[in-house]
Amino acid sequence: MNAAQEIEILIRAKYPILYIVSWEESRVESTLQNVCKGLNRTLHTWSITQGMRPAVNRTSGPVKPTSLPGELEALALVHESSDFTVFLLKDFHPYMRDNRVVRLLRDLALRLRGKAQTLVIMGPSLSLPTDLEKDVTVVDFALPESGEIEKKLDEVIEAVKGNPNVDTKLDPHTREVIVKSAQGLTMDEIESVFARSLVEKKKFDVEIVLEEKKQIIRKSGLLEYYPAQNQMSDVGGMELLKEWLEKRTNSFTDKAREFGIPAPKGVLILGVQGCGKSLIAKAIAAHWALPMLKLDVGRIFGSLVGQSEENIRKAIKVAESVAPCILWADEIEKGFAGASGASVSDSGTTARVFATFLTWMQEKTAPVFLIATANNVSQLPPEMLRKGRFDEIFFVDLPDKAERKQIFEIHLKKRGRDLKKFKTEALAKLTEGFSGAEIEQVIVGALYVAFDAGRDLNQKDLVAEAEAVVPLSVMMREDIQELREWASIRTRPASVHDGD
Ligand SMILES: Nc1ncnc2c1ncn2[C@@H]1O[C@H](COP(=O)(O)OP(=O)(O)O)[C@@H](O)[C@H]1O
Ligand SMILES: [Mg+2]
Repeated sequence: MNAAQEIEILIRAKYPILYIVSWEESRVESTLQNVCKGLNRTLHTWSITQGMRPAVNRTSGPVKPTSLPGELEALALVHESSDFTVFLLKDFHPYMRDNRVVRLLRDLALRLRGKAQTLVIMGPSLSLPTDLEKDVTVVDFALPESGEIEKKLDEVIEAVKGNPNVDTKLDPHTREVIVKSAQGLTMDEIESVFARSLVEKKKFDVEIVLEEKKQIIRKSGLLEYYPAQNQMSDVGGMELLKEWLEKRTNSFTDKAREFGIPAPKGVLILGVQGCGKSLIAKAIAAHWALPMLKLDVGRIFGSLVGQSEENIRKAIKVAESVAPCILWADEIEKGFAGASGASVSDSGTTARVFATFLTWMQEKTAPVFLIATANNVSQLPPEMLRKGRFDEIFFVDLPDKAERKQIFEIHLKKRGRDLKKFKTEALAKLTEGFSGAEIEQVIVGALYVAFDAGRDLNQKDLVAEAEAVVPLSVMMREDIQELREWASIRTRPASVHDGD
């Protein structure tokens, strides 16, 4: 059922107050206009600047100028109006913090119930005072679907027909790609971006549409488009994790769906700090050739109560509109710490946001692959680890000797050095207990020394640097041991270690 059908049913069933969540005023208004026409009702639209349009015939009392503030006057008009009317109040949500408005709305809910009169409030986000929860029916007005986008595309093509300077021919494949890439935008944005593409490129160009989508994601403030910078070959070790990921490379295709494979849900990567968890997360996007969105878990928790929950819902929606894609939640424990603990400091907001997120993880059908990483399991709510949330939980330990050798080689090569001039086996032996990040630091430190001495990097520089470093794992021996024991029964290892 689409939003128009849902709204029609609710109006016919005489629900008193609807709250439509959408950015798209004109689309909502024209949908309502259509519904009203079909149901023989008059639509009145109100905004603080324009007042009520068309004006309302009051059923009782003389028409007297009032000194009420606009928003209260609007509700008074609704109260006094006759049957077979629908009222759309634009930008009304800020007023709903006012006690008088809340009271009037509750009165109206009672009065309008069972009458052929409906009050519709719309706003870009849902912020409903608890007092009104029972009186207001929330309708999610989804962004345009592919069918509607295609219609808009055809309209744009029709509008520029006869213009010899633009090429509007589209083969079926390009057409599909254009329509798909426009998903997640509002109808106004879609129209503008199609027009912009025709002006700039003289044809419909996918890149322009995607560029617009990046803008939207940036503006949402919660998600960040992450460019694919790292390759799988930049990651040393983690053979088992790589193998697991490799097997799922084509699992987001239609072919996989037809074969009967569900889209993978996601993976949780736990482990010791500096061992490449974030690195491999970034590499997956490039390996699978999917766009990656980074979720800023900390920023989800806005300052206003109710806003955090709205934030997480919005982030999920945006991510799903980009699907298939990867959603990366780095150091997830930092955002959700305390979600299930005794922390009552935020009156349960964290817990509710967390619950929304968990439910989504459990039930999501859109192909959004969630990669979560965590350094500290004790801060991670146990519900997160339950079956059905992630496809798999991997544990990344400190690299063993063979892996350290690989990491040395990766980073020496990355800095343009000839591996034949270095004994990486010896370096690996020397750096037991080092994380990948510390190995990289050894190379960087040695490069400084060599550069300062005015010659190229040699084995001695690396050895000296490695000997001077005390790895974090020495100071954190007990923590790491605890983490290992915890992980050994709950997770899969990211690689097989042979003991050194
Ligand atoms: N296994 C590895 N292979 C190659 N480089 C690594 C590896 N582990 C760490 N590094 C280097 O250290 C940097 C920091 O690692 P990072 O992925 O942020 O660790 P984590 O997220 O596990 O704390 C990486 O960007 C990379 O340069
Ligand atoms: Mg990290």
